[in-house]
Amino acid sequence: MFVKSLGYVGVASPDAKQWLEFGPEILGMQPVEAGADTVFLRMDDADHRLAVHYGDRNRMLYAGWDVGSEEQLHALAERLEERGISYNQGTDEECADRAVLGLLAVQDPMGLRHEFFYGQKLVPNSFHPARPMSRFVTGSQGLGHIVLATPNLKQCDQFFRDVLGFRKSDEIYTFMDLWFYHCNPRHHSLALTPMPGVRGLHHVMVEVADLDDVGAAYDECMSRNIPLSMTLGRHVNDRMVSFYVRTPAGFDIEYGWGAITVDDEVWTVAQYDRPSVWGHRMVAETPPGALEMSD
Ligand SMILES: [Fe+2]
Repeated sequence: MFVKSLGYVGVASPDAKQWLEFGPEILGMQPVEAGADTVFLRMDDADHRLAVHYGDRNRMLYAGWDVGSEEQLHALAERLEERGISYNQGTDEECADRAVLGLLAVQDPMGLRHEFFYGQKLVPNSFHPARPMSRFVTGSQGLGHIVLATPNLKQCDQFFRDVLGFRKSDEIYTFMDLWFYHCNPRHHSLALTPMPGVRGLHHVMVEVADLDDVGAAYDECMSRNIPLSMTLGRHVNDRMVSFYVRTPAGFDIEYGWGAITVDDEVWTVAQYDRPSVWGHRMVAETPPGALEMSD
C-alpha cells in the first residue's frame, strides 16, 4: 500500500475566480488568491486542499496522493519501474506550487495525472472556516474522495489496486456502475465509473463533522438559487448523508456528513443495486462538465 490519503486536487476552469466566493460562502472553505490565475482553497491546516487554476475549459489537472515519507516515494518509484510505468520526478518549482517536499507524477491508464508526494506543508491552528461550522473531517482520512469517469474501468482498476495498492470497498450497479476503493479508514478515497469515450472528474466529496454544517450549506444553495445536482440523501455503502452541487469549475461537490469508516480486519466487499437508502434525486440536466473526451 503506497497511498495514505488524498492530499489535494487541482482543476482548471475559465471561472477560477468565482471560487473566491463559492469556496467560502457555500462550502465554508478559506480561499487564498495566488497570483493572477490560481485560487487555493483551505479546509484544515494543510497549505491547501483544492487548487483551481485559470484555464480555457473545465477539467481535472491532477490528484495529489500522500505516500507518507521519502522512503515510500522511492519505494513507489521502484514499483513503477518494475511494472514498466513511466513517471516524472517533480521539479523544485512543482513541489513549491503544491507545498510538498517531494513528488512524482504518473498518468493513469486513461491519461489523468496523479501526483504522489510526501511532506505537505502544515500551518498549525491557521484554518478558520469562512462561515460558522464545526470542521472538515480530514487528518488521516485525507481531504475526502474523488470519483473519476473512465473509458477503461478494468485497466484503471488494475492500476489503482495492483500497482498502487488501493483496496476495493464495494460496488454499486445502478443507473451508473461504481467501484469504490479505500487506502485508509475513509470508506472510499476513490471511486471509478465507466463512461465510454469519456474521462475526468465527476465529483469531489468533502465531509463535515456536524449534520448542521450540511444543512447550513444546503440553506446557502437554496437562498442563492444555486441549483443542486442531487438532492439530500443517504448513500447505501458509506452511509453518508449528503447533497451534490455543481461548482463553477464544472465538477460537482458532494457535501456530506456521517460516513462510516472501514476496518480492513473485518471489512467484506459488498454489492448494491441502488446508490442511496433515500434521497439523492438527480436534479442536474447535464453531467458534470469537468469530463472530457478520452484520447
Ligand atoms: Fe461521492
